[in-house]
Amino acid sequence: MSDVAKLSVGEHEIELPVVVGTENEQGLDISKLRRLTGMITLDEGFVNTGSTQSAITFLDGEQGILRYRGYAIEDICKNCDFIDATLLLLNGELPTDEQRADFRQAVIADMHLPQEMEDLIRAFPREAHPMAMLVSCVNALSTHHQDQVDPLDSEQVHRSRQRLIATLPTLTACIHRHRLDLPFVAPNPELGYVENFLTMMFADEQGQYEIDADFVAALNLLLIVHLDHEQNCSTSTVRVVGSANSNLYASITAGICALWGPLHGGANEACVNMLSTIAADGGDVAKYVEMAKDKENGFRLMGFGHRVYKNYDPRARIIKSACDVLLEKLDLDDPLFEIAQALEKVALEDEYFVARKLYPNVDFYSGVIYRAIGIPVELFTVLFAMGRLPGWIAHWQELHASPTKRICRPRQIYTGSELREI
Ligand code: ACO
Repeated sequence: MSDVAKLSVGEHEIELPVVVGTENEQGLDISKLRRLTGMITLDEGFVNTGSTQSAITFLDGEQGILRYRGYAIEDICKNCDFIDATLLLLNGELPTDEQRADFRQAVIADMHLPQEMEDLIRAFPREAHPMAMLVSCVNALSTHHQDQVDPLDSEQVHRSRQRLIATLPTLTACIHRHRLDLPFVAPNPELGYVENFLTMMFADEQGQYEIDADFVAALNLLLIVHLDHEQNCSTSTVRVVGSANSNLYASITAGICALWGPLHGGANEACVNMLSTIAADGGDVAKYVEMAKDKENGFRLMGFGHRVYKNYDPRARIIKSACDVLLEKLDLDDPLFEIAQALEKVALEDEYFVARKLYPNVDFYSGVIYRAIGIPVELFTVLFAMGRLPGWIAHWQELHASPTKRICRPRQIYTGSELREI
């Protein structure tokens, strides 16, 4: 293919450079389009728009490939825990033993919350949605770390990223316990990241909790598969907000808001609610597949379909086999897992889903694992945020390191009234 494309519009004939990525994906560089022709592009939902060049995650939706920093997601899941994968994303390379130990120690030391943050959580109505509480808490956290909010000071950014990664499990556990009217459990410097999270969530009144190695492994896996997914809705939000030089806390808060929506990260909660509805309705999966096909109905199969994947989502494949292993080890029969598998089978054989290349996505089976661990459904999207956080930070850092960084400011085609008088 030629390294320029030619565009002819009105009296203008311009050349658009073709940008080629390391995996041979190609894009047209239209950065001079408006200057040379007076025109902009129109692409609602950014279906054809590349917003940046990025070296973090490679995704091939046609083939169902996902790689972080060049490593296949399957390989990372087999060989790394969440902290290793986080460092890979943030630094570009897997950590040395020393880097891993230093980071773990620093993160665990930062896990505790200021008393005022605990008071803030206790002030929320117990029945409030955990995502609403999380959003408020992450932004409020910055008020306790005002020496970490200069986005152009690398030392401050370093401390804020560490604080955020350290604190999200603590916030999540406190939110969970507040909803149940239970006392909060402080982080334990002797425990690892995931072990601390599980203990802070589930410890009894004496602070005792028996850590189950299978739960730790399953949670590490879930956090890793959620780590990053290139320019998705929440990551793009973090980048857009970061492009205005808003601080990291504010940018991450915005990302969490975007993640909450049921078309994005909120789909994991919506999916389990849907599976429960199907179970309560007698388990007739075919009926719900028919409903999803009916355009008048407005019902969609949650956890199905993806903007980029037109093949089986590799994350769903990993999670599904982890579900099999975990449920068997625990000797658990989860009726929702059975309904999910039956639903998948019917949908994947149906012409509607085949023609549109709709497959289960990351949210379809993750809820089965969360349920087995004992995490309530309203907390699922909070867990997604915990996993996605390092990915958001890696993108925020990449944006700020870019010599071509500019504020993100799209244009529009105005379709309102012409000038009129009052
Ligand atoms: N159930 C039924 N039909 C669907 C579904 C679904 N879950 N998803 C897409 N379709 C149909 C659409 O109706 C449309 O049909 P048409 O061509 O006849 O009009 C076609 O498939 C294409 O769908 P779009 O909505 O145009 O695809 P888009 O890329 O804009 O949306 C999305 C992707 C939002 C993920 C969509 O598939 C969806 O709503 N899925 C359910 C929610 C979900 O699981 N979200 C999580 C995604 S993964 C993540 O963000 C972590």
